[in-house]
Amino acid sequence: MATYPFAADRAAEHERLLRQGSIFDPLTRRLLEASGLAPGMRVLDIGCGAGNVARLAAEIVGPTGHVTAVDVDPAAIEITSAHNTVPTIEYGVADAQTLDGIGDGFDAVTGRLVLMYLSNPAAGLREAAARVRPGGLVIMEECDLEYLWASPQTPVWTRVRSWLLEALEKAQVETRMGPALFSLFGEAGLPMPQLLVGSAASGGPDTLAWGWGNVVAAGVPAMERFGVATRQDVDPATLPQRLVAETIASGGCAIGPLMTGAWAVRD
Ligand SMILES: C[S@@+](CC[C@H](N)C(=O)[O-])C[C@H]1O[C@@H](n2cnc3c(N)ncnc32)[C@H](O)[C@@H]1O
Repeated sequence: MATYPFAADRAAEHERLLRQGSIFDPLTRRLLEASGLAPGMRVLDIGCGAGNVARLAAEIVGPTGHVTAVDVDPAAIEITSAHNTVPTIEYGVADAQTLDGIGDGFDAVTGRLVLMYLSNPAAGLREAAARVRPGGLVIMEECDLEYLWASPQTPVWTRVRSWLLEALEKAQVETRMGPALFSLFGEAGLPMPQLLVGSAASGGPDTLAWGWGNVVAAGVPAMERFGVATRQDVDPATLPQRLVAETIASGGCAIGPLMTGAWAVRD
């Protein structure tokens, strides 16, 4: 059974997800707009974490719309709802694998970087789609973590990439859920989805290498649990700066995970 490997310290994870959101949110906004999410809609967001997708959806559906955002981790919901300033978002605890206690008739369901952590993602996607009315939208966004993290590949980049991928594999996380979304929609009995693929990438002093540094740092407990690498090996306190320095010295750029957005209109 897959477990979420980044939840050892939920307050730190909340901050990490907010920072990570600044990298992914422009891609997600494009996806939500392309899919046809519109003012007045009622949206369900699964695996909401720090609420980044819920807030983007709330902006689009506006004051006449509503977002119900759920996460399996009660600590995540406690922290995220304590920071909530958007009156049209309501947070709650629910497992995306079953969505027990969540009603139906939503105009759309969204989920970003959550199917990759489910032990049965097709069943989770089917449950999510079942909460949407016929004619409503199913919108998912997942990543490919095995895609290049930097170009050129330099020693620290190569080492931390292999440590994190090994730890995630041992935690049974699907590191290539993004490209698998198309077939997953079919497995879940949904119509063929439309796809939007993109990634953030940047070099120079503002390179998003720091973002990868934070992701890898958050993976240290999982690396230690599975005997992949130690905290001393990773040295998370200095990792973001080392990745930035290495990227600048190589004259290259850091590349964010390749994100695949998929959406379909429910029959
Ligand atoms: C990488 S975070 C993504 C958070 C948010 N969707 C975003 O993109 O910013 C994954 C989230 O999924 C949640 N999660 C993991 N397994 C879950 C499950 N079975 N049901 C609901 N949420 C789950 C985790 O607690 C975590 O908050």
